Amino acid sequence: MDTPFSTQIRVASHEQHTEAETSTFMSDLLGGKLGVDAYTRYTEQLWFVYKALEDAAASLADDPVAGPFIQPELMRVAELERDLAHLRGADWREVLVALPATAAYAARVTECAATWPGGYVAHHYTRYLGDLSGGQIIRDKAEKTWGFARKGDGVRFYVFEGVANPAAFKRNYRELLDAVPADELEKKRIIEECKRAFDYNGAVFRELGGEFPLSA
Ligand code: HEM
Repeated sequence: MDTPFSTQIRVASHEQHTEAETSTFMSDLLGGKLGVDAYTRYTEQLWFVYKALEDAAASLADDPVAGPFIQPELMRVAELERDLAHLRGADWREVLVALPATAAYAARVTECAATWPGGYVAHHYTRYLGDLSGGQIIRDKAEKTWGFARKGDGVRFYVFEGVANPAAFKRNYRELLDAVPADELEKKRIIEECKRAFDYNGAVFRELGGEFPLSA
């Protein structure tokens, strides 16, 4: 097949991307209909997912498939922890609870990291390329809705200090995808795992939506 892998994976997940963007929870959150508590709860869920992604990073750094994707400027756990300290206070760890959907998502990331580097790449792509893209829209809305300082505490997760030129970084990331040493069958499996990653995100949104229904 001639279509570059980066195009294949983007096209294959396009529909689910629209679903994620327009999910009730995301629409309500970014539409300014929910309080900062909902944003905080969402940020807490992200902590579990990035912990799983980044705890595995060191062990995958030399892997021929996943290794090229492990880049220190992407790491988000430290930023999430600063945001959570701001949002919840210094004892944020004591009140941190993973929703069942989040626990399942993080467990799948950990499983892929331990057993299938291609699957890990699928999860890496789904989160980090999204954060570098739509994440910037989310940051802007969050700053305006809940009054966080621009690129400051509360939204540091969305600020990639080490990525000076996001467009160039994304181009380079797509080149890494195109160069993944995998045959067509393995690429298909990676694409399927990417769709699964979107499903996990959707499930987290549904559970968050259940916790923060609109009263009106
Ligand atoms: C309201 C929420 C969201 C908004 C506004 C949003 C918006 C965007 C935008 C504008 C792009 C750039 C498209 C381009 O460069 O052509 C993008 C890309 C992307 N988003 Fe989102 N997004 C949202 C939620 C999500 C979620 C929940 C995920 C998955 C967890 C996600 C994953 C991705 C990925 C993987 C890409 C890169 C696509 C590619 O170029 O290969 N997004 N998003």
